[in-house]
Amino acid sequence: MQYPLLRLRRFRKNDTIRKAMRDISIRPENFIQPLFVHPGDEDQEIPTLPGVKRISIKNVKSYLERVKNAKIPSVLIFPIPHDKEKDKSASVCVDPNGSPAEIISKAAEVKDLNIMVDLCLCPYTDHGHCGLINEKKEEIENDSTLEILGKSAVTLAKAGADWVAPSGMMDGMVKYIRQYLDDENLIDTAIMSYSIKFASGFYGPFRDAAHSSPSFSDRKTYQMDYASEKQISLELEQDIQEGADAVMVKPSLMYLDVIQKIKGLCDLPIAAYQVSGEYAMIKAAHEKNLVNEREAFEEIMYALRRAGTDWIISYYALEYLEGL
Ligand code: PBG
Repeated sequence: MQYPLLRLRRFRKNDTIRKAMRDISIRPENFIQPLFVHPGDEDQEIPTLPGVKRISIKNVKSYLERVKNAKIPSVLIFPIPHDKEKDKSASVCVDPNGSPAEIISKAAEVKDLNIMVDLCLCPYTDHGHCGLINEKKEEIENDSTLEILGKSAVTLAKAGADWVAPSGMMDGMVKYIRQYLDDENLIDTAIMSYSIKFASGFYGPFRDAAHSSPSFSDRKTYQMDYASEKQISLELEQDIQEGADAVMVKPSLMYLDVIQKIKGLCDLPIAAYQVSGEYAMIKAAHEKNLVNEREAFEEIMYALRRAGTDWIISYYALEYLEGL
């Protein structure tokens, strides 16, 4: 009766069998590299995100060439505007002459790279919320926000974005954006929706990097409650019906069950976003010699793939692949 035990032993010990049993892989095509780009002259360090910089528009092309050399097919760009461009209606994100459009058109000069752009209002509003605010009630106005998102999608697609990635969790955003794009005949521009985005405590370093912390209250009225499982399929269904081309789960490691669940519910590409807090935690643990960052990141990436992730959005992607 020892036979099955010894068989498993051989599976682990015998290199050929071990390789044959490896059915989960990570390839460069499984990554999307997120990056922050700003209109100033110099790259800027981000103290809360060691190893990540706000890249100057002047250096963005050479950075993107590095991404291409590592065979990562796509980037997700977060344009960071000048502080003076922020206002209460996020007007810079619909402006063809604003810095977000300028950043995207510069990036799009790099050929054979899939340019995705985050589509939200929070980096562009002076109050830092993802939507317009009804000033009396200090409430997010869903419908007027949709109009700006639609116009911003058109502006950024015309500037050269291949994909827009709405992250603001407004209801109906995918449908509105699709309509605006189609009306301008931008029928090849695809939409990756941040479909399952939780109100998470792990976005802190990002808000520091993007200067997008809300100046009052929090994002719980529009981001999802992690204490509800029922909402997951409802949010997913809505985005699919409205025309999303790819869906996303965010954050990643705490939500492997969610990734696995939606894998069973839809056949669209599934992205998982390893967010700033997840990244910074590992970097900090590495600094303190508690874990080896390379090993930790790799183990998590395999876990994400095993759960059903097609595209891993990770600040560590380029560093990981360049170090192989
Ligand atoms: C903007 C946006 C956020 C992130 C991606 N897009 C911040 C937020 O929702 O507060 C977070 C990404 C990260 O933490 O790395 N809506």
